[in-house]
Amino acid sequence: MDAGKVYNTWPLMGTTYFPDDSKFIEFLNINVFDNPSIVQFIHRNLAYLIVGIYIYILFFTFKDQNKIFRKPIIIIGVSLFLQVVLGIFTILSGVKIFYASLHQINSILIILINSIFSLYYKI
Ligand code: HEM
Repeated sequence: MDAGKVYNTWPLMGTTYFPDDSKFIEFLNINVFDNPSIVQFIHRNLAYLIVGIYIYILFFTFKDQNKIFRKPIIIIGVSLFLQVVLGIFTILSGVKIFYASLHQINSILIILINSIFSLYYKI
């Protein structure tokens, strides 16, 4: 749907946080996922939510006396940070295939890293 091409600004979408060509009420539409601006908005905000949840988990991981999860949580954090930076580069570059591909490849790496750690640490 080329949702990455409708807005090539960050952190705002055009001149506002919510895409300025749409209305918030459109979330109630059954075909909300056909709107590229809203799809891009959801994608960005899901990423911010994931980063928020990560920081929450990071906090408790370092509070814990048991240091076993510190290394994996740092590695997950680095891959997550890279993913967000690559996503922003993808947006700002007008979805250049170089950044878009790295963003996609890194998303696979994130799943891989998380799967390996879940198996290794039996969580
Ligand atoms: C937790 C963080 C993120 C994850 C896991 C993630 C994951 C993904 C994945 C899997 C795709 C490919 C979708 C497809 O091929 O249909 C994608 C595409 C895209 N993402 Fe993200 N993303 C994240 C954060 C971001 C952020 C912060 C931005 C921009 C502010 C962004 C911008 C884009 C754009 C423009 C595309 C379309 C380009 C392409 O197809 O590669 N992403 N993202």
